[in-house]
Amino acid sequence: MIVSITGATGFIGRRLVQKLAEGDHEVRVLTRSKENAKLLFPVEKFPKITIAGEFEWKDCIQGSTAVVNLAGMPISTRWSSEVKKEIKDSRTRVTSKVVDLINGTSYDTRPSVLISATAIGYYGTSETKVFDERSPSGNDYLSEVCRVWEAKALGVDKDVRLALIRIGVVLGKEGGALAKMIPFFMMFAGGPLGSGNQWFSWIHLDDLVNLILEALKNPSYKGVINGTAPNPVKLTEMCEKLGEVTGRPSWLPVPDFALKAMLGEGATIVLDGQKVLPLKAQELGFSFKYPYVRDALKAIISL
Ligand SMILES: NC(=O)c1ccc[n+]([C@@H]2O[C@H](COP(=O)([O-])OP(=O)(O)OC[C@H]3O[C@@H](n4cnc5c(N)ncnc54)[C@H](OP(=O)(O)O)[C@@H]3O)[C@@H](O)[C@H]2O)c1
Repeated sequence: MIVSITGATGFIGRRLVQKLAEGDHEVRVLTRSKENAKLLFPVEKFPKITIAGEFEWKDCIQGSTAVVNLAGMPISTRWSSEVKKEIKDSRTRVTSKVVDLINGTSYDTRPSVLISATAIGYYGTSETKVFDERSPSGNDYLSEVCRVWEAKALGVDKDVRLALIRIGVVLGKEGGALAKMIPFFMMFAGGPLGSGNQWFSWIHLDDLVNLILEALKNPSYKGVINGTAPNPVKLTEMCEKLGEVTGRPSWLPVPDFALKAMLGEGATIVLDGQKVLPLKAQELGFSFKYPYVRDALKAIISL
């Protein structure tokens, strides 16, 4: 495959690029900063990679067999009104650009598949409801972001297979929520964040990347697909398991205010959760390497 990727320099993108490169596929990194991308993907280690700044995206998308769209300003930050605007605008801007570039490509050089990221924030938050791909959207800020983000991706011409991956909280060592949570958790001797009663719909980074790889190759992967593990947990359980694998007892609750002080409104992704099941991935027969959170955490902590 020849795969063009936006957000390739991020937490998920870096692992995806690595996996594609290992599989001898050609990768085109579509970035805002070529300098930064060149540091992350040195040519000696990644000889088959093309690194393209924004003016070169068009030439890269033309002739690619697939596009993966992961770009967006991180949400685990303090949310000023400007930040909130950019969280939404960055996603709609890049997705629109990618879709326009694909649609503007002649049929013989057009990618046949677009995998576009979105998030389980689409469903809103709840302690009692269970969400799958058929569930309606929520009515908070993040659900609105996801709706407009997905709407832009849906603008791709119908001959291009579109898979929208509604991603859960991705667990990995080198980024995402867990990397932020671990030092915090250690500082408070471990314990649930906030009430601990909220749902935590997580996925191991390797499983998410495998899901994207499968979606690239398998024509049955189309439409909305939740990118979450089959066994979401309450945050209390997640913290207990984290305590077990880090050898720390989980007994002191981490106060909401401390997490909010660090993450601002971005803390909502951990403090107000949702239970999201990967119905579609399971129907498609996708095999999760890490269906249980303890195994996922153990694999990550032992790295
Ligand atoms: N990690 C998770 O737990 C999680 C959960 C749900 C959904 N997602 C979604 O999945 C996607 C990838 O996640 P990630 O954790 O890998 O993200 P990430 O590490 O924050 O990387 C995202 C990439 O987006 C680009 N970017 C950052 N700010 C931007 C801006 N203002 N305008 C345009 N592009 C910008 C950057 O690439 P360049 O600098 O190379 O352009 C960056 O490397 C994101 O859209 C995220 O919302 C992630």
